[in-house]
Amino acid sequence: MRIVLLGAPGSGKGTQAARMVEALGLPHISTGVLLRAAVAANSPLGQAAKAVMDRGELVSDDIMLGLIGERLSESDVARGFILDGYPRNLAQAAALDEVLKRLKQPVEIALQIDVNEEEVVQRIAGRAAAEGRSDDTEEVVRNRMRVYAEQTAPVADYYAEKGLLTRIHGQGSVDEVFQRIMFALQSGFASKSGSD
Ligand code: AP5
Repeated sequence: MRIVLLGAPGSGKGTQAARMVEALGLPHISTGVLLRAAVAANSPLGQAAKAVMDRGELVSDDIMLGLIGERLSESDVARGFILDGYPRNLAQAAALDEVLKRLKQPVEIALQIDVNEEEVVQRIAGRAAAEGRSDDTEEVVRNRMRVYAEQTAPVADYYAEKGLLTRIHGQGSVDEVFQRIMFALQSGFASKSGSD
């Protein structure tokens, strides 16, 4: 399965991806995780990305395409993948299609996890207290939400137009949301094999 996970900051993409990895045995490719690892390693990429991330803005499309292109060319991706945090704008969505077309591994389903803003703010405040992520301060979270609404939300329409989008109600317990995701995956893939 080749899955793209979409959703606002704090909507539960990383949490659900971890559960999906256990259930489906697919690699989880999170651009946020890759970028934070580059920042922690103080690599040139990490140095270029840190200030941008700390403002809650998007790292440049060129940097992101290099990062994701490299990761997607690794051999484990032949089994499929759970992509989390990419694409984050329409240019990235088109670039991803190109990379995956070359690899003959197109996206099969995009899952949009929908959570209301109040819940997102509460969840991120909880994570800020527990983990102290540098971009989880109130002001930066507000900017991340704005960037999401302006640049990332249209990516859902991009996949909807291709008939690949499924929306998941993202409120409720982690288990409840996970069950909705597994149900959507089973239904989505069953209906595809039925129409072949
Ligand atoms: P990234 O790390 O991708 O951040 P994000 O999209 O803002 O997502 P989060 O990690 O905040 O949230 P999540 O949806 O994964 O939720 P989580 O499961 O953690 O990106 C960070 C930055 O990197 C970006 O701002 C940008 O600068 C840069 N970047 C990354 N990708 C890029 C790209 N493609 N292009 C350019 N720049 C890029 O859950 C949140 C909290 O809620 C957790 O504490 C969790 O325990 C809790 N929780 C989860 N589910 C539930 C539930 N059902 N009930 C209660 N609590 C829950």
